[in-house]
Amino acid sequence: MKQSFFQRLLFKKVARHLRKPSGWFGKKVGIKMNAANAFLYDAALDIMKPADHDSILEIGFGNGKFFEKIFSKANGLRLTGIDFSEKMVEEAKKNNAASWATGLLQLYKGSSDQLPFPDNSFDIIFCINVVYFWDPAAPHLKEIYRVLKPGGKFYSVIRSKESIQQMPFANYGFIKYTRDEWTDILQHHQLNVKEVNIINETAATLKGDSYPVTSWCFVGEK
Ligand SMILES: C[S@@+](CC[C@H](N)C(=O)[O-])C[C@H]1O[C@@H](n2cnc3c(N)ncnc32)[C@H](O)[C@@H]1O
Repeated sequence: MKQSFFQRLLFKKVARHLRKPSGWFGKKVGIKMNAANAFLYDAALDIMKPADHDSILEIGFGNGKFFEKIFSKANGLRLTGIDFSEKMVEEAKKNNAASWATGLLQLYKGSSDQLPFPDNSFDIIFCINVVYFWDPAAPHLKEIYRVLKPGGKFYSVIRSKESIQQMPFANYGFIKYTRDEWTDILQHHQLNVKEVNIINETAATLKGDSYPVTSWCFVGEK
């Protein structure tokens, strides 16, 4: 698609805020992501099937709109979130005021390449639409491996390379993976890939053309 100078500026700005939302524009992007990604959260939770009392870490939770949904999936879940956007941490605290105030939900501002948690802390770690921004992925995956319990699972949900490269903002700073590329990277970091689930989303429309959007949920086990 041929883009004008102003379209390119806008897509660059959107890409910057998808990576790390800030200010009022970042807040708006967070709300848009809720609508665009609700389907992925539902699909990922169906795959994850948390068990009662699991301890779960979400990396890159955006405005945290889906924590209540996660709590509803099992009893006594201990949920922790980390996001390096100050704005998103602020919004997530507002959106989850009750569970945050009671300490049921722990929220941290920080980056996944320096996780402020002891070794072997979590049964489940997951992230949705975050991997594209890890450049390189290695220090993030080393940390995830460290804080996962033995036998714990890391669920990473990403849009397929073919799907995301159709999205105009993804030309700016997104690292795109094929299914084999991301599988190899996980395996290389001792996250043994047990399954790659295909998630078919509603077709997207761009300039009157519709194209399929496919995501994958990779399940890597420590
Ligand atoms: C595209 S948004 C996805 C938000 C949400 N998971 C969703 O799918 O709707 C990416 C989120 O990950 C966060 N993020 C990106 N890189 C991160 C990192 N290295 N550590 C922690 N959070 C990160 C951003 O601040 C942002 O909130």
